[in-house]
Order: sequence, then C-alpha cells, then structure tokens
Amino acid sequence: MAKNINNILLIGPMGSGKTSVAKLLANNLDKKFLDTDEEVMKKTGVDIAYIFDMEGEEGFRKRECLALKECLNDNNTVLSTGGGIVLYKENRDLLQDRGTVVYLQTSIRSQVERTASTNNRPLLQNKDPEETLKKLMLTRGPLYKEIAEITIMTDNKSLQEMSEEIQRAINEH
Ligand code: S3P
Repeated sequence: MAKNINNILLIGPMGSGKTSVAKLLANNLDKKFLDTDEEVMKKTGVDIAYIFDMEGEEGFRKRECLALKECLNDNNTVLSTGGGIVLYKENRDLLQDRGTVVYLQTSIRSQVERTASTNNRPLLQNKDPEETLKKLMLTRGPLYKEIAEITIMTDNKSLQEMSEEIQRAINEH
C-alpha cells in the first residue's frame, strides 16, 4: 500500500485546536504526537515570532516545509501542522500521500476567541486580527478542503468531543 494510513495529519487555521486535539488523540490512540511549529523551534532554538522577524514569512515557510518532511518520515503519529502549511503545493502533496488528512473547520468567531489570549502568532500581531483571519481563510479555506479526507466542525466542541469524532470518522473511513 503506497499510503501510510497510520499517520493522522491535522490541518486547519490558527485557533482551530490542532495542537491540543493532536496531543489528546495521540494519547488516546497510543501514537506519537508531533507538531511542525515545535519541530521548527527545536531545530532553530528560537520561537516562531523571532524567525518571522529575522527571515520573514518566506524564511519561516522554508523551515516549515523541511520540518514537515522530517515529521512525515515518521510512522504512527498524530501530526499538528501550522495554519499556513497548505500554502505550498509540495506540502499539500506530501500530506495527502503520507496519512489521513483531517481538517478542523472553524468559524472566524471561534478562531478569534481561541487566539485572543496568546500573542505568539506573528500574523495576528496587528490592529485587526479578525480581518486577518478572514483574509487568510479566503485563500486557505479552499486549500484545506482540497486535501482533507475528513472534515470536523470544531465550534462549540470540547477537545474530547473533537478527538472522539475524529476517531469515529477514521474508523468509518
Ligand atoms: C501560521 C500558523 C501558526 C504558525 C505561524 C504561522 C499561519 O501555527 O505556524 O505563526 O500562517 O497560519 P498554528 O496554526 O498552530 O497557530
């Protein structure tokens, strides 16, 4: 079988709950948790905001692509990806090839609520993060849908509910 169905690959916008759900899911399914942002930070020894400052978004995207490739070499993982991972066609192809892609679909309102308490996302450090999230969704929404095998609506759901829904969907898949 060409496709490695042991990996569960979470995609979706900032504030969709990817990292928290991936941790829970990995724990429930006895899989290894991985996160592309974490891998970038481990490799560079600095945080994402610093990379954006020093190298711009383009520099970050290159590092993110390398981190994704490394993560996807692994097996039996639940991988949480950065919200912009779908921008590169190369990334989209890799994700589709190496596991079951699960899209955490989230309203702008929930994204705003879930990202409001943190200031670690460089793209949202501006006067109108809601407008930014809307613009990002316009370009990225179709890309998430393009590669998703399973789509879960995350609004008003607990992490446990999302995790259970994903497990059910994967079993039925
Ligand atoms: C980004 C999302 C972030 C992180 C970086 C850029 C984006 O990850 O990769 O700040 O472009 O949407 P999360 O989606 O985990 O917040």
